[in-house]
Amino acid sequence: MKIGILGAGTMGAGIAQVAAQNGHKVVLVDLNQAVLDKASANLVKVLGRLVEKEKITEEKSQEISGNIQSSTELNDFSTCDLIIEAIVENIDIKTKVFAQLEEITHKDCILASNTSSLSIASIGAALKDPSKIVGIHFFNPAPLMPLVEIIPAVQTSDETLKKAKDVIDSWKKVTVLCKDTPGFIVNRVARPFYGEALRIYEEGVADFATIDWAMTELGGFRMGPFTLMDYIGNDINYTVTETVFAAFYYDPRYRPSFTQKRHAEAGYLGRKSGRGYYNYAEGAVLPEPTRDEALGQQIFERIVVMLMNEAIDALFLNIGTKEAIDLAMTKGVNYPKGLLEWADEMGLENVLAKLEALFNEYGEDRYRPSPLLRRMVREGSIFFS
Ligand code: NAI
Repeated sequence: MKIGILGAGTMGAGIAQVAAQNGHKVVLVDLNQAVLDKASANLVKVLGRLVEKEKITEEKSQEISGNIQSSTELNDFSTCDLIIEAIVENIDIKTKVFAQLEEITHKDCILASNTSSLSIASIGAALKDPSKIVGIHFFNPAPLMPLVEIIPAVQTSDETLKKAKDVIDSWKKVTVLCKDTPGFIVNRVARPFYGEALRIYEEGVADFATIDWAMTELGGFRMGPFTLMDYIGNDINYTVTETVFAAFYYDPRYRPSFTQKRHAEAGYLGRKSGRGYYNYAEGAVLPEPTRDEALGQQIFERIVVMLMNEAIDALFLNIGTKEAIDLAMTKGVNYPKGLLEWADEMGLENVLAKLEALFNEYGEDRYRPSPLLRRMVREGSIFFS
């Protein structure tokens, strides 16, 4: 199978590397020659490091580089069997490009998008034969993160879906099927990790460092929410939240935060601007958390039950299977445990009690427990027996 990758930025370059490492001939196209040059220089560096660490041989490294043909011409996709698009996140540009891709490629070529926030159906609508559209959503960095969300649109044929899933499985990735709904699984279920942390800060319960400490030290997460938002960039993370909020018809559960908006407006974007919630200037000292176990436990539990509720509601609405939802969070964003399995361990009645306490205290729809959680507690059932 010959693979085409459109867009050689952060995601496209990484996906091209994965395909080439798995023995495919790859055509990597970008409008901008400088981006292509940067992608190939970067690949040389990455492969060099793998050779040094004896993960691959020099010969294999040559083979991988040799598998990738860079180009600024869409026409070079003419013999490809699967194209994965990873260009700018803009529906008008994407639909225009997909219509062109359909003209250039053969009739059985699968046309996939790596979009994070647009619907696959809306991209597929640009095609004369929309049965060949599918979402193939990688995580950053694509060569390292095992998860890939596979998203059939309402128009996608069974054959397209099967072929797409089979090829990504053959790349030794963990694939999960998910519904074509905002944020798919990961970017939907993860919202409270940021949103509830910001809310806790805004209420004055604790500062950034203490909330991060609670989530890493007590919760076992690799990174605290504020450290992570500083990595992602407050501009990007805020935009994703705003997009998901609007896409869910302004469900208050996904409401963005003024704190994050002001940080983004101020240019406190995070690591990339030298300052976010924390100061990354040379010599700056990171603030110390208040290491209060009781406070930390309260913070961790509030955030984690909100995450569990989101995962349970995603299952309630059939966004993915219970296995898919748990795999998505452990393999896409490195959560220490699947949220449904974790909820079983914590006791579903305890999770429900904590959510109800929040709901009663605040009277906000944001804290409403999923109907599935209520039903399961009533029936005394668990997710994984
Ligand atoms: P990026 O900005 O790093 O790269 C986009 C590339 O597309 C640029 O090199 C640009 O020159 C090129 N491009 C733009 N319009 C083009 C066109 N018409 N024809 C050919 N090339 C064109 O963007 P990034 O971060 O790689 O994102 C790409 C896509 O992947 C977006 O849809 C984004 O939502 C999605 N995504 C991003 C993730 C991330 O963490 N950055 C994670 C998963 C998905």
